[in-house]
Amino acid sequence: MKLQNKSVIVTGSGRGIGEYIAKRLGREGANIVVTGRTTKDIEKVSEEINNEGGRSVFIEGDVTREEDVKQVIHGTIKEFGKVDLVVNNAGIGLKKYIWETGVEEFGELMDVNVKGVFLYMKHIIPEMKINGGLIINISSGAGKEGIPMLGAYCASKFAVIGLTESAAAEVNNVKIVALCPGSVDTGMFKRLFPGEKADLKPDDVAQKVADICTHPEKYCQGQSIELY
Ligand SMILES: NC(=O)c1ccc[n+]([C@@H]2O[C@H](COP(=O)([O-])OP(=O)(O)OC[C@H]3O[C@@H](n4cnc5c(N)ncnc54)[C@H](OP(=O)(O)O)[C@@H]3O)[C@@H](O)[C@H]2O)c1
Repeated sequence: MKLQNKSVIVTGSGRGIGEYIAKRLGREGANIVVTGRTTKDIEKVSEEINNEGGRSVFIEGDVTREEDVKQVIHGTIKEFGKVDLVVNNAGIGLKKYIWETGVEEFGELMDVNVKGVFLYMKHIIPEMKINGGLIINISSGAGKEGIPMLGAYCASKFAVIGLTESAAAEVNNVKIVALCPGSVDTGMFKRLFPGEKADLKPDDVAQKVADICTHPEKYCQGQSIELY
């Protein structure tokens, strides 16, 4: 129970990697806010954490909407008194050649994967500056090198690393890192790469996030932590 009394927001935690991260950190004793757009998913994950003996609430929120982001942060503070950790996990994928990618599709990808991370950091850093904190931004191996047919997705995940490094250089008492996993066996991976085998299970990512949360001193400020 290394995270007892720590309050954590995990975005996009109604399913996929986020669900595993929320449950893993719940088992470490943290108070968990499960958030996403689909109420039935976040309610279920939150209930499962509580049924396992953890402490969790769910708050609906779209990471692209500033008002929602503020509501999730204020709701967390109202419920648990503070926010110690944020895992910016919510994200969407797209597999298309650049010349096939619609301008609207590109914009949506940037909105969720980049603006969402920006909005959470914009609103949480001022809160965390008071008592310190930790932010883990989920980038990807696709944030480290360009991959055919993932141009828009790669651009968004490179941008997450840029935001992470810049924010990390702007603050002293808030640790900010990016986590860059290889392919992970989730709904997103199955939709983009049907029939292919992923490098990692969602629990491998959750395990790494738990290690960063419990031993942040092992990682440098602004680091992009690769996980393959
Ligand atoms: N799977 C991989 O191979 C892989 C590899 C490296 C990195 N990643 C990254 O890991 C993260 C999680 O991916 P995943 O594979 O678990 O995907 P997933 O199974 O599709 O889950 C995505 C999660 O994000 C939420 N979400 C999407 N749009 C949102 C929005 N506008 N506001 C709030 N929540 C939103 C979804 O919930 P709602 O739709 O209900 O809102 C869902 O909970 C993403 O950032 C992804 O880019 C994935």
